[in-house]
Amino acid sequence: MNIQEAYNRLNKKQKNIVKSNSLRLLVLAGAGTGKTSSIVVRITKHLSNDGFLPENIVALTFSNKAARELKERVELIVGKSKCEGMFIGTFHAFCVRVLKNFYEEALLTENFQILDSDDQKSLIKTIIKARELKIIDEIKRKTHKKEDIDSIKSEFKTHLGMTKNIIAVLSEFKNNELPLTHLANRFLDFNVPAEYALLYAAIINDYENKKNAVGVVDFDDLIVKTNFIFSEHEWIKKEFGKRIKAVLVDEYQDTSKVQSTLISNICSQESFLTVIGDDDQSIYGWRGAYIDNILGFGERENAQVIKLEQNYRSSQIILSAANSIIKNNKHRLGKSLWTDNIGIEKITTITCYNNFEEGDYVAAKVKKLIEDGSSPSSIAILYRKNFMSSTIEGAFHKSQIPYKVYGGLSFWQRTEIKDFMALLKWVRNPDQSLSIKRYLTLIKIGYGELKHIAINRLSEENNTTYETELINFAFNGKSNRTKEGLKAIISMINNARTIYREEGLHKLTIYLSDACNIADSYKKIKDPEKIIEMMQNIAALSDMTEHFISESDVSSQVANDDLTAFLISADLQLDGVEEKEEKNLVSIMTIHAAKGLEFSYVFLIGVDEGHFPSERIFDITEMEEERRIAYVAVTRAKEKLWISCANNRLGKPTQGESQFTKEIPQELINKERLVRKLF
Ligand SMILES: Nc1ncnc2c1ncn2[C@@H]1O[C@H](COP(=O)(O)OP(=O)(O)OP(=O)(O)O)[C@@H](O)[C@H]1O
Ligand SMILES: [Mg+2]
Repeated sequence: MNIQEAYNRLNKKQKNIVKSNSLRLLVLAGAGTGKTSSIVVRITKHLSNDGFLPENIVALTFSNKAARELKERVELIVGKSKCEGMFIGTFHAFCVRVLKNFYEEALLTENFQILDSDDQKSLIKTIIKARELKIIDEIKRKTHKKEDIDSIKSEFKTHLGMTKNIIAVLSEFKNNELPLTHLANRFLDFNVPAEYALLYAAIINDYENKKNAVGVVDFDDLIVKTNFIFSEHEWIKKEFGKRIKAVLVDEYQDTSKVQSTLISNICSQESFLTVIGDDDQSIYGWRGAYIDNILGFGERENAQVIKLEQNYRSSQIILSAANSIIKNNKHRLGKSLWTDNIGIEKITTITCYNNFEEGDYVAAKVKKLIEDGSSPSSIAILYRKNFMSSTIEGAFHKSQIPYKVYGGLSFWQRTEIKDFMALLKWVRNPDQSLSIKRYLTLIKIGYGELKHIAINRLSEENNTTYETELINFAFNGKSNRTKEGLKAIISMINNARTIYREEGLHKLTIYLSDACNIADSYKKIKDPEKIIEMMQNIAALSDMTEHFISESDVSSQVANDDLTAFLISADLQLDGVEEKEEKNLVSIMTIHAAKGLEFSYVFLIGVDEGHFPSERIFDITEMEEERRIAYVAVTRAKEKLWISCANNRLGKPTQGESQFTKEIPQELINKERLVRKLF
């Protein structure tokens, strides 16, 4: 497709977006109306009509996947070589480029490192721990009272528990450009005593100092520091103003204040600035997105505003369903989307007995679609919570459906699953030294690399199993913490084997998930949300074993007991996951990861009240964001949408069909009933 063809394909309003000579342009339009398509062509207009060079153009978007797609679409029209030097990417990627060139002005070192969220957490925890130790040392020097020390220890446990909130507040301040001097006040909102609030502010101060001292930045800093360069060095701002002649921002509804400042920093009065978005698709409020950026843009910038109303993506039925969900939100601009695309396929809703039936149902439908000639990449399975991918993965594996889990680790690659599988492998095989070591180092009983090497060597020399040498070590000689820990675990492993022999695989996993100390070691993470998710994943794995028994004939060809068969099957899935890249695959992803994307066939799973919306949604602002997430999900579908819920998930009853499904008019729905398997 050349530039003219790409332009000709657009409708009148979309052409206006491309042609507009306004320096400030806001496109405010609903899902699937061709916003992204229009900016693709507007970029080519900047190149051809305005005579801009690729390096004069910056296009910013939200995720790497969305950026990649945007880039591909532009390259397809103008050719790859004409795009060289153009920046199309995320805000963070743009800032990294700038900071690499202006690290001195940003007060960084040339090789500054970026902290990921795990590093960030661990740095904050180290700071908290260091403060605790300092106070304890002082007590030891002065009074040495045990009760004082104990009380400090217990107080600092609470502080460690605040790590996630400390990080969230810091991010909120940076995204909203609030002065860090006001941090303490914000912590009072968590109903903590004033001295705790001061302490949390001081911890953040330590964190900032530490980062500066060692030359690292976190993700939020990337944008803050880039803005800092512009505010301190007028000449840099001028140079950018001269160089950058057009800035285009997709998904503008999910930008934060600090991102909006960045945009004004890199645009001069003479540069073109086009921002594009949909207030109904703002789904990152929890991460600092500032909806007033888009709502106030027209007036603030005296911008031309173009609205698009024709949706080209979805059938009328899907569009009506989306409209009928989103209209329940009070805080919105409101727009009426329409489409020419009549479509005959109603939305199928289905209530399953449990998540396994849901998984099998989806797998059967997907298999049929592929057999009937649909491309796997035209199919997506979307869900609200990460843990929901597990049963789908299991079912797809069983049905040999090629898939890829986007954004987030595949179920079998997740740490807690690998940890728990290590334990199962130990139960199965007393000589699985790597699995045994993984588990023992995880639970922190003082069992480390050196001990592991020693035990390994003994088992080789004596031609015994790793476990035998472990037992010899634990039960002989002077007792200590490690030995006591080992004794308890060995006894648990023995119990597990008895339970497996007498009651089978499912009971074994139930026993182990209860008895093992994995949950305890995760508690040290001090991130309640994350721990809940990890425990849900382990529960999902345990659930899977119950299902597995009834299906075990598949793996029984290679194993003569359920546990071995299950372990083999899991390893095969892990293998498969790692091999499958870049092929024609069914997409499995969270709704957040699917923003901006589209698929002919969408299965929206886990739409049970309590999970979506989550039972932990308390106020209207949060509920409206949940509903926008539902709107984003539904509007990903072009031809056909399935919405499923389960009456039981993770072995617990749910509250049945979600209110969002109930908001769709009955006439758009074809309700399917699943017949329960009898045997
Ligand atoms: N004028 C048009 N004629 C035919 N198809 C179009 C037209 N404009 C857009 N489309 C198609 O409509 C679909 C949606 O377009 P696009 O992804 O650009 O919408 P969007 O507004 O960016 O959606 P979202 O809100 O989900 O980001 C795409 O498949 C695109 O090719
Ligand atoms: Mg888009």
